[in-house]
Amino acid sequence: MKMLKSIAIVTPGGDAPGMNACVRAVTKYGLSFGLKIYGIQRGYAGLLENDFVEMKSNSVSGIIHHGGTILKSNRCKEIRTEEGIKKAVQILKQRKIDYLIVIGGDGSLSAGLRIAKKGISVIGIPASIDNDVYGTDETIGFDTALDTAVEAVDKIRDTATSFERIFVIEVMGREHGFLALDIAAASGAEVVVIPEVKIDFDRVVKKILFSNKKGKSSMIIIFAEGAGDSKLFAKKIESATGLEVRVSTLGYIQRGGEPTGRSRILALKMAVFAINLILKNKKNVFVAIKNNKIMSQPLWCLKNRKEIDLKYKKIIESIN
Ligand code: F6P
Repeated sequence: MKMLKSIAIVTPGGDAPGMNACVRAVTKYGLSFGLKIYGIQRGYAGLLENDFVEMKSNSVSGIIHHGGTILKSNRCKEIRTEEGIKKAVQILKQRKIDYLIVIGGDGSLSAGLRIAKKGISVIGIPASIDNDVYGTDETIGFDTALDTAVEAVDKIRDTATSFERIFVIEVMGREHGFLALDIAAASGAEVVVIPEVKIDFDRVVKKILFSNKKGKSSMIIIFAEGAGDSKLFAKKIESATGLEVRVSTLGYIQRGGEPTGRSRILALKMAVFAINLILKNKKNVFVAIKNNKIMSQPLWCLKNRKEIDLKYKKIIESIN
């Protein structure tokens, strides 16, 4: 009699729209193969507190269109320690969990790698609004955060135009500029400031004054939170140009909201791929999408830093 594989799903770290669609697909598709599915509550903190709930088909009813994660999350410091990892492994072994599926961003997946190194089979599914996971073109939730942010920037542009002001709009992305770049591209922002590129303040001032002289009376500057202090940057722009500058920080609206169809479909495809990997006894990899093809990458490659496309940044700023 083939052993029934038991799987535990955890959604640690920053929540992302589409996580629920992913939990739903892992659960339903896994159950269809007779797998036992558990949901770990509140991320790695819940894992360390042995807080597991068995998942049935009706556990994931009516969640596909909700942002956030029904399993909840938590910024668990203990999992970053050797003792924390050992405790997590011990609990997973005690519960005879065959596979841990980690649905999360770079930090969450990296903790999954450390758990894998202690003998637990791990499959990662990249979900984060930051889109900063090495080895995958896209993470679940990124598309939704992009749409949410672009809609907000479009609204701000209305008042920028009416008041002939420059707006510095701070967006999320942790230490990366992937979200900021796509927001700038999609909203027609004239300038985008990202952590990966040192701020060339004089060049920004020159561009503002040049555009202003050509009759452009308002401007949008997208400022990635990891690039520094957006308020200080705005003050410096105002004193260097003599133009009115305001700051708007988009904040946590970028993390929530109904997932877009694209986020939901990516979640489904990655979830199905993850279960198929388990059925083939593959382990210690994470699901990725490269050139629109769903594939897997070894967890150890997470040590690499995802590169930003600087040519893309230049194009965005040159045409806007
Ligand atoms: O990783 C997702 C993210 O939203 C980042 O973009 C942001 O810097 C961070 O989480 C905020 O962390 P917290 O939710 O702990 O405030």
